[in-house]
Amino acid sequence: MTETSGESVVVRAPAKVNLGLWVGPPRPDGFHSLATVFHAVDLFDELVVSLAPEWSVEVSGRHTESVPTDRGNLVWRAGQLIAEHFDLDDACRIHIHKSIPVAGGMAGGSADAAATLVGLDSLLTLGLDRDSLMDLAADLGSDVPFSVAGGTALGSGRGEKLAPVLTKGIYHWVFALHDEGLSTPDVYAECDRLRGRRTVAEPAPSATMMAALRSGDAVAVARALHNDLQPAAISLLPRIQHTLDEGLDNGALGGVVSGSGPTVAFLCSDRKSQLDLMVALTASGVADDVVSANGPAHGAHIVREVSA
Ligand code: C5P
Repeated sequence: MTETSGESVVVRAPAKVNLGLWVGPPRPDGFHSLATVFHAVDLFDELVVSLAPEWSVEVSGRHTESVPTDRGNLVWRAGQLIAEHFDLDDACRIHIHKSIPVAGGMAGGSADAAATLVGLDSLLTLGLDRDSLMDLAADLGSDVPFSVAGGTALGSGRGEKLAPVLTKGIYHWVFALHDEGLSTPDVYAECDRLRGRRTVAEPAPSATMMAALRSGDAVAVARALHNDLQPAAISLLPRIQHTLDEGLDNGALGGVVSGSGPTVAFLCSDRKSQLDLMVALTASGVADDVVSANGPAHGAHIVREVSA
């Protein structure tokens, strides 16, 4: 991580997995209405936001060659949005250290955007209230409000409308990563293609998932894991199915494609079976990398302030 001189803040934002994702028909604006249960896990991107003569974005971490450092990066857009909203003269350098898989379906880009909003609010003492922060987050992307909020939450609309979900306990996850990224729009388009002319109902979260989360029963949560985008992700990248089978054969309580994929999330009963599954998946070679994380985790938050 680059050390910064001058005034800066260090911010973290978490990865997410969708415990349930129910996708409705496409809307006139091109988005799909959805119901989803977001769950943040303690795998964090860390950003250093520093006062600087001009705006710039830098990225470090594994597989970050493909991550843009210009307008194509949501962090850049978050900075511009804040600058316009507050009519700012200040500029910032933003260093992103990525631990969340790039284009993996775990909201890495959204996490970085959320961290940027929270970091700029603190560094420039903008005094953003929660509603304004969430509105700006929603302007940046469907998952960004949840990256600000963290925890476990029910998402509706295109994912940006949030309501808290009552949960008990800690959930132990193993994530199997695949180097081929999947583009979110491509996966939604494939979902529509596979559905063909079938009528699609308005999406709603399953009562079994909500009851399982309330009871804190990991076995019941694992049984209720669901993702309407999973067939589309597997259709675009068939090796995902092999990874899912391997995890389920090696002690996972349940497995599901995370968001639009290609990361596969496995829920484990405890720390020991989490470690055993990491070893088994690594040895099998089905995935390109394997990481573990626990949830729920906090949303975007300041970890350190550094004065000049
Ligand atoms: O909001 P976000 O930038 O994450 O969305 C990326 C793309 O994913 C959208 O342009 C759209 O193609 C697709 N999407 C969708 N319905 C949603 C969320 C995303 O079709 N609810």
